[in-house]
Amino acid sequence: MKLRVVLVAGARPNFMKVAPLVPAFEAAGIEVDLVHTGQHYDPAMSDVFFDELGIRTPDFHLEVGSASHAVQTARIMEAFEPIVVERKPDWVIVVGDVNSTIACALVAAKLGVKVAHVEAGLRSRDWAMPEEVNRLVTDRLSNLLLPPSPDGIDNLLAEGYPESSIELVGNVMVDTLMRNAERAAQVDLGAITGLPDGADYALLTLHRPSNVDDPEVFAGLLGALAEVARQMPVMYPVHPRVRARFDAGLPLPEGIRLLEPVGYLASIALQRGARLVLTDSGGIQEETTVLGVPCLTLRENTERPLTVTEGTNRVVGTDPAVILDAVANELANRTPARRPELWDGRAAERIVQAVISHSR
Ligand code: UD1
Repeated sequence: MKLRVVLVAGARPNFMKVAPLVPAFEAAGIEVDLVHTGQHYDPAMSDVFFDELGIRTPDFHLEVGSASHAVQTARIMEAFEPIVVERKPDWVIVVGDVNSTIACALVAAKLGVKVAHVEAGLRSRDWAMPEEVNRLVTDRLSNLLLPPSPDGIDNLLAEGYPESSIELVGNVMVDTLMRNAERAAQVDLGAITGLPDGADYALLTLHRPSNVDDPEVFAGLLGALAEVARQMPVMYPVHPRVRARFDAGLPLPEGIRLLEPVGYLASIALQRGARLVLTDSGGIQEETTVLGVPCLTLRENTERPLTVTEGTNRVVGTDPAVILDAVANELANRTPARRPELWDGRAAERIVQAVISHSR
């Protein structure tokens, strides 16, 4: 009998993960219902990724929008349940660690539908991070755990998951990166940065509540970044929530240039062209490792340790003095990097094979 899956995407970091999965499932003769929860809804946070990555129009759009964590999660669950009841899929496939991930996994588990989690097993061990709650609970609700890297397997085994429920599949975001590298190379960077070709700049992305919602932490970070901006321009594409802070009067240090949120191709182009990336994102730690661009992570921990042990990432925290030391060090000695195993552009195929073999 033909397998049927419901594949869920909701927020910006999900879209580059589902992009290769839709065609890979369909090529294997599996019927896919694509669901967009609407957690992210601004064209710059959502539509641009569907357009650029050729993701087809979702079969269901839940249009939940923004709200508190509880309300957003509840709205997604309420809107998602009837779809699972109606479509009766063999699997619900969720990716990443956003509120849409945990909400849809919980609905499926309660309806007795099997859940597969793409990007299972990642752990920051920072329970104050909403994504860490989402990761742990989603894994617990999943029948098939699909970690991108061996540390994910270690974490899951240590938590008591049976080996038979875990398949190492590699990093599906790298599939998208490899497929779009040439198109990203065509992006007119100067039109985005306003800088001449080849000019040094640092790329900054900073949006985590722990960094930008606490005025003292954010001010400390902006102070350190102002120092970096004395050495080279800092390009900062801002999340709508952070833009609102500057619009409300938070002073922007000289040399830091706010950009509108960028699409996928521009994001890759900006990373590749940067002398240095400073970020609190998860995905960008991985993309810079694949691109070989130095990355300083402005957090106290990472759930993606391979980007440090094998890649270009350094976890430097939020202390301005430590950040500036790390910047000086990175500008003086560029760290060599290796691409982790199975980050090879074929993760989507392995995910499909894992779902098929666990359906028997
Ligand atoms: C979410 C994810 C986070 C991810 C980030 C990437 C969770 C718990 N967090 O955080 O892991 O790194 O996406 O962007 O799921 N907003 C808009 N337009 C939009 C979406 C949001 O203006 O299209 C504004 C709203 O004011 C909203 C705020 O951003 O209240 C936060 O959005 P939300 O989806 O709750 O979380 P993110 O911070 O985007």
